Amino acid sequence: MVLVFRKQDLTREEHKAFGRLFGPLHTHPSKRILRDKSDPEIFDVKATADTRYANGEAWHNDLPCEAEPPLGSALYLRELPSCGGDTMFANMYEAYDSLSQPIRTFVDSLTAFHDGRQDLANYGVTLKPEHPYPSASHPVAPRHPETGRRALFVNASFTVKINELSRPESDTLLRLLYDQVSNQPRIQCRVNWEPGTLVLWDNRCVQHHAVWDYFPETRRGERVTVQGSAMTV
Ligand code: SIN
Repeated sequence: MVLVFRKQDLTREEHKAFGRLFGPLHTHPSKRILRDKSDPEIFDVKATADTRYANGEAWHNDLPCEAEPPLGSALYLRELPSCGGDTMFANMYEAYDSLSQPIRTFVDSLTAFHDGRQDLANYGVTLKPEHPYPSASHPVAPRHPETGRRALFVNASFTVKINELSRPESDTLLRLLYDQVSNQPRIQCRVNWEPGTLVLWDNRCVQHHAVWDYFPETRRGERVTVQGSAMTV
């Protein structure tokens, strides 16, 4: 589920109040654990001419490294590039449903380990081993807590390994599952941002990819993320 609301004029407090309609707000681990003192309920999204690693520039869902991954996010951009900067979305129900039945049966029995450190490394950040940061295991194809449908729940940003498989087996299967997302335009859509656009997505059945095609221009905004619950089969 991805909902696009055009022509919105939101303060930060109004943006947070919108997110709270769906549940308590989530605090990003970089703020909870790494002592970032800015507003704990707002995750800043920003890429400028000085940016080396743009946020979210790969297929992912937000924070599967949490024991209770977020329910969803609402992103509101305040500064847009003159062209580009779209966000792509992919339907994880369809990614799962388009696997053949034998592979679906196999992945139904599997769990995967997700580590926030792996995602941080994508941004050139390496934590000391003693520094706490979230990691968690979840089913590879959990059932959505509201619809009961299975959705693929692995992504290259956070997923380290399928727990029940050897490393080469895990790497091979994960590659196949990632290709289910990136190689199927049929299951993707693309949001073109306009001033005043607010986008809400369900993090349990949708992955997204922020396209960084506007360097050296600036794209800036704020994400409010809603707390979720444990992923189960
Ligand atoms: C994100 O990964 O949540 C950011 C998405 C975007 O900037 O379009």
